[in-house]
Amino acid sequence: MRIVYLNPCGKLGGAETSLREILASMRAAEPGWDLWLILGEDGPLADIARDLGVQVVVKPFPPSLARLGDSGREEHSWALLKTVTDTAKYIRSLGRLLTEIRPDLIHTNGFKMHLLGAWTRRRKAPLVWHIHDYVQSRRLVSRLLRLSGRSCSAAVVNSKSVGSDLKSLLPGLRVTPIYNAIDLQRFSPGGKKLDLDELAGLPSAAPGTIRVGLVATFARWKGHAVFLEALGRLPSDAPVRGYVIGGPIYQTRGSQWSVQELQGKAKQLSPTREIGFTGFLEDSASVMRSLDIVVHASTEPEPFGMVIIEGMACGRAVVASQAGGAAEIFTDGENALSHPAGDAARLSEQILRLARDKGLRMKLGEGGRRTAERLYDSKRLAKELVELYRQVVPDSKAQFKTAAAVLSAHRETAKNSRRVP
Ligand code: GLC
Repeated sequence: MRIVYLNPCGKLGGAETSLREILASMRAAEPGWDLWLILGEDGPLADIARDLGVQVVVKPFPPSLARLGDSGREEHSWALLKTVTDTAKYIRSLGRLLTEIRPDLIHTNGFKMHLLGAWTRRRKAPLVWHIHDYVQSRRLVSRLLRLSGRSCSAAVVNSKSVGSDLKSLLPGLRVTPIYNAIDLQRFSPGGKKLDLDELAGLPSAAPGTIRVGLVATFARWKGHAVFLEALGRLPSDAPVRGYVIGGPIYQTRGSQWSVQELQGKAKQLSPTREIGFTGFLEDSASVMRSLDIVVHASTEPEPFGMVIIEGMACGRAVVASQAGGAAEIFTDGENALSHPAGDAARLSEQILRLARDKGLRMKLGEGGRRTAERLYDSKRLAKELVELYRQVVPDSKAQFKTAAAVLSAHRETAKNSRRVP
């Protein structure tokens, strides 16, 4: 069986972390299967996948396509035309590559790849969309997905909540919820920690300081302002240091905060408390272990929320906003605390409660680890996916052209196309 995974981004956001776990789990469960990854951007995910024994092809998006988003900003018509022609060219060349690889199944991650995968002509393999985000709230994306739904054999969703959103857009589509999972050895309570103060360029915090961090991409709905306001509301003697961990990792225009904007917000919302900005840190397990309290503060319903299970698996006390798919993955008071999405006052109370109560932090950390072991072990992923793949691949007459031969043919094509003026 040969599967090609398509992903737009090479950096490690939530959907990429999810894909990494899928690749690792598939590799371990089906060592004889031929796994490929085509990325629309180079980045750490490429090396991670190569190390797992996946054949990786980086096929960069043209900049006009990389920046295109659903931010509501209108394009000038000439820019739009350029995006359309660049995209059409990309689709043709992606189609050629897929024809060479001859997959038995294509599994796409991210809206751009769902659409490109569906629009690739001559694609014979069934297409599985892995939907990580709500679709109905995105005007352009939902229209395009609805138009392309017939090309898709099945969809995987990361929560029941995302599943019902997708179902209302495409009622006829086979939709299977598969919760994300993680490597529980890597995400464990014991292990390497980071010096967050040094990474943020701050003097070391006093002994006994409780470290509280929001770990998120800089997407505007991840609740940075709520987190900063919650820190600003803490009594001045609360022994807490806050950290904003992450960065604007996506190329999509207009969808993210810049670090300067957030630093400005920090001064305004939490003028007296020093807050550390570490930038994006790849080793998220060590990040979790370096915190006492992991905050998830999304202001819109969170489709799943990888950081919640990562924090739980590392035995940390998690405070999460209770909305969307995120609300399906934890139980308030048992393995995390919650606050209503966008409620800075309540988040502040929960942080303070945890900062003052070591016993509660420990209880939630232990409860979180137990939950992760029961529900979010990555070994489960391959089992659930293989079952789905077998349903959509018709009696797999897998073609076994060797991976090396396909790669060298692709490199040859790329060289030749560079020679054309
Ligand atoms: C997307 C979602 C996030 C989820 C991740 C992995 O990034 O926004 O909620 O955790 O995908 O499924």
